[in-house]
Amino acid sequence: MRFAGKTAVVTGGASGIGKSTVELFLAEGAQVVMGDLDAEAGTKMVSAHPGTLHFKRCDVRADRDIKALMDFAAEATGGIDIVFNNAGAGGARGGIDEITAEEWDDTMALLLRSVALGIRHATPHLKARGGGAIVNTSSVSALQSGYAPTAYSVAKAGVLHLTRIAAADLAQYGIRVNAVCPGFIVTNIFNPAFDPAIDALQAKQILMGAAAHAQPVARAGQPRDIAEAVAYLASDAASFVTGTDLLVDGGMLIGTRASWDPATPGLIDMLAARA
Ligand SMILES: NC(=O)c1ccc[n+]([C@@H]2O[C@H](COP(=O)([O-])OP(=O)(O)OC[C@H]3O[C@@H](n4cnc5c(N)ncnc54)[C@H](O)[C@@H]3O)[C@@H](O)[C@H]2O)c1
Repeated sequence: MRFAGKTAVVTGGASGIGKSTVELFLAEGAQVVMGDLDAEAGTKMVSAHPGTLHFKRCDVRADRDIKALMDFAAEATGGIDIVFNNAGAGGARGGIDEITAEEWDDTMALLLRSVALGIRHATPHLKARGGGAIVNTSSVSALQSGYAPTAYSVAKAGVLHLTRIAAADLAQYGIRVNAVCPGFIVTNIFNPAFDPAIDALQAKQILMGAAAHAQPVARAGQPRDIAEAVAYLASDAASFVTGTDLLVDGGMLIGTRASWDPATPGLIDMLAARA
């Protein structure tokens, strides 16, 4: 019960990584306030956890929605101790040679400005509690190319530096700020990339197959893998950890699994195939 007596706010809590983190915080004694665009899924989750889980519809692209979420959380539960700035989606798909100014701004508002404003509007409440912990969702795509669209990757890299700068600014108030960098995690975020004829169950099966082979660790990444990292960063066990990021990617950024998987061609195999 690492979070008994604490309140955690989670954005994007109605699905995937956010949902798994909401469930872990609840299981470990926290009261949780989740904000999400998806009111139907959010309300359904609340009915399974009466009294300990609260939902407020929130579009993290809107400054007023984020402020309203933080104020609601403090009012409903008495204060805020933990904030997980996590909501997101794929954003604009175009490369740097085709993206429009509007697409760029929309993606930054969704994935980077939302995190800045989440920190901004949570801070008065965390200060009132004498400190707290903020965790932001970044991505492997913040660290290397090839994993996500251009604007998404740049926004997630911005989240990492924002995390470091905010950690330095807020340390004086006992507020820690860290980030988590997920690798390939099987969630609904990939669903828009599928043909509309493919239903959610089929999409999940396809993703499970692909994700099991995407990195050296021989299984698909799950939302719970990220939730466990978030819970550590949010917990008192991490009380001397701030301004850093935790990569949870099954070894994806080490490189390929060619050293042990015959189905993954290594450099020498690729050269031999071309010779
Ligand atoms: N799944 C992965 O492989 C992966 C990898 C790296 C980073 N991430 C990041 O993890 C975070 C969570 O994604 P996920 O994979 O769990 O996806 P998901 O689609 O399962 O969940 C995202 C949640 O965010 C909500 N959301 C989307 N736009 C919103 C908005 N404007 N305002 C409020 N809520 C909004 C959705 O309704 C949904 O509940 C995102 O920031 C994503 O970029 C995911």
